[in-house]
Formats: sequence, C-alpha cells, structure tokens
Amino acid sequence: MQKTLEELMESGDPPSFDDIMIAPTHSTVHSRSEPDTGSVLAGSINLSAPIISSPMDTVTGPKMAYAMSINGGVGILHRFLSKEEQSHMIDDMMDRYAEGNHSRYDIKIIPAIGVGSKERDRFAYLYQKHGDILSGVAIDVANGDSDYMLDMVRWVREGVGVSLPIIAGNVATGEGFLRLAEAGANAVRVGIGGGSICKTRIMTGIGVPTLASVADCYLARERSGAFKEVSIIADGGIRYPADFVKSLAAGADAIIAGRIFAGTLESPGEIITINGKKVKTYRGMASKEVQEDRRGGMRPGTCAEGVSTHIPLKGKAHYIVSEFCGGLRSAMTYVNARNLNDLRANSRFIRLTPSALDESHAFGTKQ
Ligand code: IMP
Repeated sequence: MQKTLEELMESGDPPSFDDIMIAPTHSTVHSRSEPDTGSVLAGSINLSAPIISSPMDTVTGPKMAYAMSINGGVGILHRFLSKEEQSHMIDDMMDRYAEGNHSRYDIKIIPAIGVGSKERDRFAYLYQKHGDILSGVAIDVANGDSDYMLDMVRWVREGVGVSLPIIAGNVATGEGFLRLAEAGANAVRVGIGGGSICKTRIMTGIGVPTLASVADCYLARERSGAFKEVSIIADGGIRYPADFVKSLAAGADAIIAGRIFAGTLESPGEIITINGKKVKTYRGMASKEVQEDRRGGMRPGTCAEGVSTHIPLKGKAHYIVSEFCGGLRSAMTYVNARNLNDLRANSRFIRLTPSALDESHAFGTKQ
C-alpha cells in the first residue's frame, strides 16, 4: 500500500497532487517548532521558507520580492518591462532595505530574463549596474528544454565568468532537467502546463502533472549521481500547503507559485471592486491580456496559452508564507522529519481513490 517515490512512479499513471497522500509514521519529533524547513537554493541562496513568488507581472514586483525575502523566501522580479524599469525595481528593493531593519543577507535580489539577443542585452545591463548585489538570475521561458535556453544558460555562465546562480526553466522531464544542469543551471523550474492560469494543456495537449515531473527530475538527478547541488523547483498548480509538502516530499527543494500570492497587498496591480468585493487581477504571462498590454497584441499565427482572472484581496504575503510553512512543519512532525532530507527519506506515498480525496477536504462544511 505504502510506496517509496520510485515505487510510486513505477506504479500506475503519473500522479497529480490529488492522486496521493503521505502516510504518517512513528515520530520522535514532538513539537512543530523542532523541524527545520530551511533549504539551500541553487547552491548558495539560503531560504528558511522554501517558497518563491513567480516572475509574473501581477505577482512579483519589488514590494513582493522584498516581502518574500524578509519572510525567509524569495521573489523573482518579472521581466515584462524594459531593462531600465527592471533596474528601477532593484533600486526600489534596495531603498526598502535601507529604510528597514533587516540584514543585507536577508535581501535576495533575483531578476528574471528571457532568451535571445535583446535579453542578453538586458542581462548585461542589469549585471553591470547591480552585479554585486544580485543573488542570482532566472532565465524564464515557457519551454526550457530547448536549444535557445541551453545557449542562454551557457552564455550567462561564460558571459558572467563568476558563479552567479542561474535558475532556468521550465522543463517537465528528468532528461530536460539533466540537460539544463549540464549546461550550467544551478536550479531548474519544473512543471509544464500545471499553472492555475495556464491554458497550455488545452491549447496544445502538452503537459505533465507537476508532481510527477518533480519526482521524475528528482529520480533522474539521483540516478545520474551528479548535480546534487542543482535544485529542483516545483512550479505550477500549488493551491494548498499540502501541495507544497507533497512537492518537497517528491524531491523539490522549493516551490514557486503565482496564485497563492496574487491578491496579496504586495502583489503589483490595483485593488478593484467587483460586485462589492475587493479583488486584484491575476493573469498568465501568455494570456491575450498580457500580449495586448505589453507586446502590442497577439502575433499572427499564435494563440493565448494563459488566462486572466480576479483574486479576492488576501492581506499580506507574510500570512501565506507562514500558513504554508505551518503546514510543512506539522507534516514534518507526522513523518519524523527534522529537516527536508528527512521528509524526503521518510515519506511513503499512498494512491488515493476519488472517495478518499473527497473525504480529505473539510467535508463538515458541505451543505
Ligand atoms: P500557479 O501558482 O498555479 O498560479 O502557477 C504559476 C505558474 O504558471 C508560473 O510560475 C509559470 O510557470 C506558469 N505560467 C505563468 N503564466 C503562464 C501562462 O500564461 N501560461 C502557462 N503557464 C503560465
């Protein structure tokens, strides 16, 4: 009944978050304050909360990136603006730091860039202006298992000539992970088609459940015997703390998320009122709305692979991080885990039937 990650992946179809549960085990971890949720991202970025806010224009600007940093996570500054404007976002983060009372080491600055010559220029500009204060750079494209991504990773690695951590993605398979790791990526975003605002699977038929992709990449990394320091970041479809826990148990070193942070006070965008409710816009970066706003419309022969929606106003990002880490700490006490390595080693998975899933939600609230 209970399966190791390898057995889980070898049995049945590739699992989604709702297909599995983790069995509790005998535990000597007595209190939720005991487990250490810390994770080292990309070899050198220390996170006490292994959570990243996604580089999307309705999720991570400087205010969100700063809030994520001081709460133990990190936010990746989105790239859907000019290099000068992106540089201003970095200045804005440093201004917030100057006005606050946090250590310089708490403030993690990671801008996103794309691929191609214009994006090389963006990177060169940002690196020349801010190279000494960057914690890393994220090369952010929809299909990370591609020639143009591999070229860009190699260019940044050689162009920079120092060990600035590179986060690259997205990929959905172990092979894709190994290719990026070999090219020089220090962390890989894993997940294609699983985002809450994503239409990729509907428009193209392409995708793999995020949880299965993460497990595939983790097992590929283990089998390769190399790239132990190359982090796996689960990306797309994280809804509850349970999805966060399952991602880490299946081999992720951190998660990245959009929806859970959209609608917080720190996410970019105005608060609007619809039917008497306060909301903020949350939109996929491949949505028609983004292409119209930022690229002068859809290019002929293409289709939107994202949607735009509204998310009720939620309060501060801090509460989200703290709720997710609370769930994680509790899960760790159930599986006798003092750190994330223990969580991975001690997790045994169970496949769920639809009725088991139905029972798993707080069904006492159903009318
Ligand atoms: P969420 O946390 O489930 O909302 O998913 C966020 C993730 O969706 C991001 O981190 C990206 O990997 C992905 N994403 C962002 N915009 C789009 C889009 O327009 N189409 C498909 N995927 C997207």
